[in-house]
Amino acid sequence: SRQIKIAPSILSADFANFGAECRAIEAQGADWVHVDVMDGHFVPNITFGPATCAAIRPHIKGVMDVHLMIAPVDAYIEAFAQAGADVISAHLEAGPHIHRTLQAIRGAGAKAGLAINPGTPVEAVEYLLDMVDLVCVMTVNPGFGGQKFIHSQVAKVAKLRAMIGDRPVHIEIDGGVTVETAPLVAAAGADVLVAGSAVFKGGSVGDPAPYGVNIAAI
Ligand code: DX5
Ligand code: ZN
Repeated sequence: SRQIKIAPSILSADFANFGAECRAIEAQGADWVHVDVMDGHFVPNITFGPATCAAIRPHIKGVMDVHLMIAPVDAYIEAFAQAGADVISAHLEAGPHIHRTLQAIRGAGAKAGLAINPGTPVEAVEYLLDMVDLVCVMTVNPGFGGQKFIHSQVAKVAKLRAMIGDRPVHIEIDGGVTVETAPLVAAAGADVLVAGSAVFKGGSVGDPAPYGVNIAAI
């Protein structure tokens, strides 16, 4: 069966201690580190930009997975690639030219990710599948950690896995991943599971029991 990777989202980490938080989640077995970039325009929340990504990069040994919830996006791709992002995901809904955006991400030397909101039909990715390394299926409306998993998206994941066929494309799940929902999406064909609040629970890694998700077990 497919190898499942866990990508803790530092959106739920201690923003004053990203370096230590990244080192701690990797020590706990995190495969990727998921970095949520929000602009207060595409989503109703603001986080940080490429300078912060560059600052945390030396504290991540593995994959830095940058999820851009920004519009417009094209003008910033080079900066996130320069900051050391291994994967850069852009939203299909963030502008009229997602095809160009995906070309630009690979052109900048990063792996290309395509994120889709819960209301976006899976068929919308059909003509993009040959130019992506990852499709991120949002299982909450993007903008905030700690929201409830939207169950209708499980069927979308199964359809997407069938559409992908034998292409080497990851399916990433983002939002509301817990010990209860992780098995559902894994069974439907997802292989990268983002988990923010379930991993950090809003506490620091100094907390004796910060990990709600058993990273090794999923
Ligand atoms: C939501 C972000 C997610 C978020 C997930 O807009 O893209 O990565 O951090 O958080 P949880 O796991 O708490 O739903
Ligand atoms: Zn995310």
